Amino acid sequence: MMKEITQRTPYVVGVLLAAGSGERMRSTTKKAFLSVGNRSLLRRSAEAFESCEEIAAIVAVVPEDCVEEAERELAGLTKVKACVIGGAFRAESAKRGVLAARPEGIAPEQCFVAVHDAARCLVCPEDIRAVISAAVLRGAASASFPATDTVKRVDDEGRVLQTLPRGQIALAMTPQVFRLDLYLRALDTCSDLSSLTDDNSLFEQAGIPVYCVRTGKNNFKITFPEDVALANALLSGTEEASDMGEYRIGHGYDVHAFADGRSLILGGVCVPFERGLAGHSDADVLVHAIMDALLGAVGEGDIGRHFPDRDPAYLNISSLVLLERTAEILAAHGARVINLDTTVVLQAPKIAPYIGQMREQIARTLGIARERINIKATTEEHLGFTGRGEGAAAHAVASVFLDR
Ligand code: CTP
Ligand code: MG
Repeated sequence: MMKEITQRTPYVVGVLLAAGSGERMRSTTKKAFLSVGNRSLLRRSAEAFESCEEIAAIVAVVPEDCVEEAERELAGLTKVKACVIGGAFRAESAKRGVLAARPEGIAPEQCFVAVHDAARCLVCPEDIRAVISAAVLRGAASASFPATDTVKRVDDEGRVLQTLPRGQIALAMTPQVFRLDLYLRALDTCSDLSSLTDDNSLFEQAGIPVYCVRTGKNNFKITFPEDVALANALLSGTEEASDMGEYRIGHGYDVHAFADGRSLILGGVCVPFERGLAGHSDADVLVHAIMDALLGAVGEGDIGRHFPDRDPAYLNISSLVLLERTAEILAAHGARVINLDTTVVLQAPKIAPYIGQMREQIARTLGIARERINIKATTEEHLGFTGRGEGAAAHAVASVFLDR
């Protein structure tokens, strides 16, 4: 049973073309070795193929003088089987990669090659998967994107000769995936590889149909210097925002009982009221919830771990002092506070008139803008312990950015 499944599962090798010089990029570094978001185009493309389950192996095709550099770039990627030297034209590089990709002991009808421009480094595993599925069904398939601009045929001077029917235009991208026996047959029929700008063309010349599959728009080819800036901008809004760091979220919750003979301190502000909150420190329930949220965001446990309420040093201390120390703990983690959102739960008094001052105190203590701090208040409609005026509670959520 297992054997049957294995035999029917196509064996797909990714062939990453990285042997071009990148003339239009006008950089002294070979294009595939330029970085976007701190990783080279070659590495990024290879990582997308590595994490695509359908890909069994990867072959990289690189410039003659870059084999060692490519091997270093691709270190740790377990599917990478070889770095081979490319040719003078793209199609020659593709041919060399495909021939090197040919696995022993698997019939060419069972094997597929997914040829990809390393320069399309924002390709995602879903794109690769979609083209492989179509090729498995039809023999040959290409990533593509429908033309959204009207396409003109022009002469050398840019004079428009013809407007092509846009609805019939698909812009070919990669990966282009082919059943190996068909690729080898197409190769046999082609006498001049030098003029082919993609692998579909090889099939077209041989009269073997290729089917276009729409993939993501981010799968564009990095060609000109401004494409690097565009790729960086696209990455800066995603998960990988970074290589530079990452966002974290923390949550905090605290409760204190009301007691006679105490000042009511909330958000570092003394709010006029006949009672205050009981506690070892000044019992600022809002600041305590904020501290817990901040500590939580950087995985530093909670306020009790850092400022135990048995420690006489903290007796009646202003919670703003503790907040300042919490800020130091965050700074040691390379974390900066993005924003805080909080809710104070108490029946009375009304704290709305003091919220501005509270934001000011907290902002000053954390060294951030007051706009990044939001404070809300609610009653619980006379329900529960806050509703009966026995105590107050506070919730806080913090977002922080951790530098790497
Ligand atoms: N390529 C290749 N071998 C070649 C030419 C191109 O492997 N002889 C690869 C490139 O490295 C690239 C992909 O094919 O990943 C698409 O080619 P293109 O974007 O045109 O890259 P370059 O040829 O390097 O750039 P240019 O045309 O600006 O010189
Ligand atoms: Mg080129």
